[in-house]
Amino acid sequence: MFDAVEFEQEATAALREQLDGPAVIALSGGVDSTVAAVLAHKAAPTALTAVFVDTGYMRKDESARIRAMLEPLGMQLRIVDAAARFYAQLAGVTDPEVKRKRIGATFIEVFAAVAAEIDAKVLVQGTIAPDWIESGGGLRDTIKSHHNVGGLPADLGRLRLVEPLRDLYKDEVRTLARHLKLPNAERQPFPGPGLAIRVLGEATPKRTATVREAVAIVEEEFEAAAGRKEMELPWQYFAALLPVRTVGVHGDLRAYGEVIVVRAVQSLDGMTAAYSKIPHSVLERISIRITNSLRHDVNRVVFDVTNKPPGTIEWE
Ligand code: XMP
Repeated sequence: MFDAVEFEQEATAALREQLDGPAVIALSGGVDSTVAAVLAHKAAPTALTAVFVDTGYMRKDESARIRAMLEPLGMQLRIVDAAARFYAQLAGVTDPEVKRKRIGATFIEVFAAVAAEIDAKVLVQGTIAPDWIESGGGLRDTIKSHHNVGGLPADLGRLRLVEPLRDLYKDEVRTLARHLKLPNAERQPFPGPGLAIRVLGEATPKRTATVREAVAIVEEEFEAAAGRKEMELPWQYFAALLPVRTVGVHGDLRAYGEVIVVRAVQSLDGMTAAYSKIPHSVLERISIRITNSLRHDVNRVVFDVTNKPPGTIEWE
């Protein structure tokens, strides 16, 4: 049985030793990196600069949300707008593994620049056990190179990597987040490469804006329906943009538009998952909203009924 009190004590004691000078903390706004940051901040409050890189592949209003969550904790926070740099790196890229590796490498470059500025020696990351197991740690094949593991260049330069949550599973991180009273303890997971792996094919700024709006609609509608007790909130729920076009009608005219897939799963730790049985009334509202607000781009919405395995949770 996971003991959050004991883990916090042991992790902060270890971090106190490891954070022996200025450090940068990689923040995504998700529960993993926030917990890692809070533990590191407790262990060495003056040493730390929390860095949030806006890659251009973040969810709607994410920078403002991060600021509102972390500033009250007294954490030193730096928000870096690196969208143009990430878009340039992903121009013309369609292979999911190449996307992950480029994003991982660009992340490190951006961190390294901030770290050099504050003379940091250490980079803290919120890596958890499924990240490195699925990246081919242990005895398994590489299923996906999770960007905060497989995407790292072999040479981290002058930065030493510290990963306080390396041996934890998601449910344990959430228990810890509740114990630390973090506002995002129940927030669903969000992948490190962000919306780039929810745009199948090239993740251009325009296609990313499309999926960002669809993801926001799915989140809003599911959370509202769960609030009205029409359904239970799934473990993870989002939209992805497919690399196909289909024929539809827009007014009286033929439309040739893109396809959004809605994905919702139940899971304990992300290692296996069952697709969520969502009420049709909720799916219909989502479909209508997406095809209304994105009417110039999207004319079809589908729902994914695949478990993991054989599917994965994300489409890339
Ligand atoms: P999959 O798609 O592998 O997802 O079934 C399992 C869980 O991991 C998240 N995920 C990632 N997280 N970097 C991350 O930090 C990644 O590259 C990545 N790929 C998937 C996914 O959202 C799900 O919660």
